[in-house]
Amino acid sequence: MSILVIGGTGTLGRQVVKQALDEGYQVKCLVRDFRRGAFLKDWGAELVYGDLSIPSTLPNAFKDVSILLDLATIKSASSYTSETIDWRGKLALIEAAKLSNLKKYVYFSFLNAAQNQDIPLLDLKSKIEKELENSNLNYTIFQCSGFFQGLISQYALPVLESETIWLSSDSAPVAYLDSQDAAKAVVKSLNLSQYDNQKVSLIGDKFWTPKEIIELCERLSGKTAKISYIPFIAFSFLSRFFRLFEFTWNIADRLQFGEISGDALSTNKPSNQISWGFTRLSLENYLQEYFGKILKKLRENNYQQSQSEISF
Ligand SMILES: NC(=O)c1ccc[n+]([C@@H]2O[C@H](COP(=O)([O-])OP(=O)(O)OC[C@H]3O[C@@H](n4cnc5c(N)ncnc54)[C@H](OP(=O)(O)O)[C@@H]3O)[C@@H](O)[C@H]2O)c1
Repeated sequence: MSILVIGGTGTLGRQVVKQALDEGYQVKCLVRDFRRGAFLKDWGAELVYGDLSIPSTLPNAFKDVSILLDLATIKSASSYTSETIDWRGKLALIEAAKLSNLKKYVYFSFLNAAQNQDIPLLDLKSKIEKELENSNLNYTIFQCSGFFQGLISQYALPVLESETIWLSSDSAPVAYLDSQDAAKAVVKSLNLSQYDNQKVSLIGDKFWTPKEIIELCERLSGKTAKISYIPFIAFSFLSRFFRLFEFTWNIADRLQFGEISGDALSTNKPSNQISWGFTRLSLENYLQEYFGKILKKLRENNYQQSQSEISF
C-alpha cells in the first residue's frame, strides 16, 4: 500500500514516515526543499516536489497513492500566512484528492478547534474539518493537543538557560503526547475501518498546566525558572510583535499557544479516543531522559574545560 505524506520533515511527520516504513508501507513524501527532506530519502521514502502555496504542484503527487497523511502546517518562521498554507493550500489538496484514486485522507487538526475559532489557525483547522466531512472522501481527522518534543524549546531550555518564560494566568492545560507514540498509533489505524469518516482525539493521558511542566523541569534540572505573568489579552499582541523580528521568533513560538485560554478548553477526556494497545512514554520519563543527557554533557564540558585550564 502506498502512502503520501505531506509535512514529513515536521515533528510528527518524520515519526509517521519512519513508522510507516518500518511497517512495510511504500512512502512518498511531498517536500518543498529536497535538501531538507534528504534524511527521509535515506530512510527509504521517495521524495516528490510540491508546495502547498503553489496548488499546481499538488495533483502529480497523488499518482499511485492509496492513503494521504496531511501533517503540514504553517511554520512559525514562515513568510506565508496561515491562510495561504492551512486554508487555500488545504482546499487545493482536497480538490486534488477528489480527482485521484485515494482510499483514505488523514488530516491532523487541534483538539477543540471548533471551540477556539477566535484563534485564526484553529478557525482554519475547524473549517478544513468541515470541508472534509462534506467532501465524500473517506477521511480520518486526528485532533491533537501537543507533543513532548515542543516542550524542549518552550520550557526545558528556558529553564536551563535562565530565560524568562511568559505565562498567562489563564493558559490552557494541554494533554501532551510523545510524537513517536502518536505516530505508532496513527500508522496502526490506517488499515482499520473503525476510523473511517471519524474524528479521533490523539492526546496524552494527563492535561498539564504550564506551571506543572515548569515545576517538573525545575525538579529535574535543579534550576529555578524565571516566570513572568502577563494578562491573557496581551498574548496575541506580543506573539505577533515578536514574530516581526527574526531574532525573536523563538519567543514568538513560546507565546503561540498561550492565546488558547483555559476557559475555552475542556479538560474532560473526549470520548472518541484512539485505542492505544501499547504502553506510552510518560512526560516525566521523557523529560528525565532529556535533562539526564544534557546535565551529563554539561558536566563533561565543565570537566574538560577545568582540565585544559590546569594544563595551560
Ligand atoms: N505540534 C503541536 O503541538 C500540534 C498540536 C495540535 C495539532 N498539530 C497538528 O499536527 C500536524 C503536525 O504538526 P507538527 O508540529 O509535526 O508540524 P511542524 O513540525 O511544524 O511541521 C510542519 C510541516 O509542514 C511542512 N510545510 C510547511 N509549509 C509547507 C508548504 N508550503 N508546502 C509543503 N509543506 C509545508 C513543513 O515542511 P518544511 O520542512 O519544508 O518547512 C513541515 O514538514 C499539523 O497539522 C499540526 O497543525 C500539532
